[in-house]
Amino acid sequence: MGKDVVVLIGPMGVGKTTIGKKLARALKVEFRDTDAMIVAEHGAIADIFAKLGEPEFRRFEEAAVASAISEPGVVATGGGAVLSELTQSRLGSTTVVYLSTDGRHMASRLANGNRPLLQNGLDDWRRIYEERKPTYESLADITINTSNQTMASALDEIKTRLTKND
Ligand code: S3P
Repeated sequence: MGKDVVVLIGPMGVGKTTIGKKLARALKVEFRDTDAMIVAEHGAIADIFAKLGEPEFRRFEEAAVASAISEPGVVATGGGAVLSELTQSRLGSTTVVYLSTDGRHMASRLANGNRPLLQNGLDDWRRIYEERKPTYESLADITINTSNQTMASALDEIKTRLTKND
């Protein structure tokens, strides 16, 4: 299996990109971020949502995930990438790390983002996370609770558990 691909999933603002970059550096592998790939190819996410709508964004995202997981490395996904059933099945050939949170610290983490799905801030974030939680849980090979530990310790936990998961 393509277990040399590690995919980070989890809600908006949990730290998938930040942790993913550090993890890739620690493992000495490439890092790819599906949001960044979409922006590079199609422009700002808020503009895609506004001009083309969410379904089109999801199609771009499905393609970005497929491309990102086609080579070894660490991949950070957008929080809604797992909504695609095709993506769900494709992730079966990777090691999926679910970054979970109890919502602590989320207000400040989301403050400086420009996320079209969070027009009502934390209320939207909570509702969307509750809706997606079962999907994150069912896809996860490894679950890391990010709210009860520092970034450095979360990173250590991922590295340790990836080794055990081999
Ligand atoms: C989304 C999450 C965002 C981005 C888009 C939609 C979502 O990525 O893809 O705004 O549906 O959860 P992050 O999880 O990196 O914020």
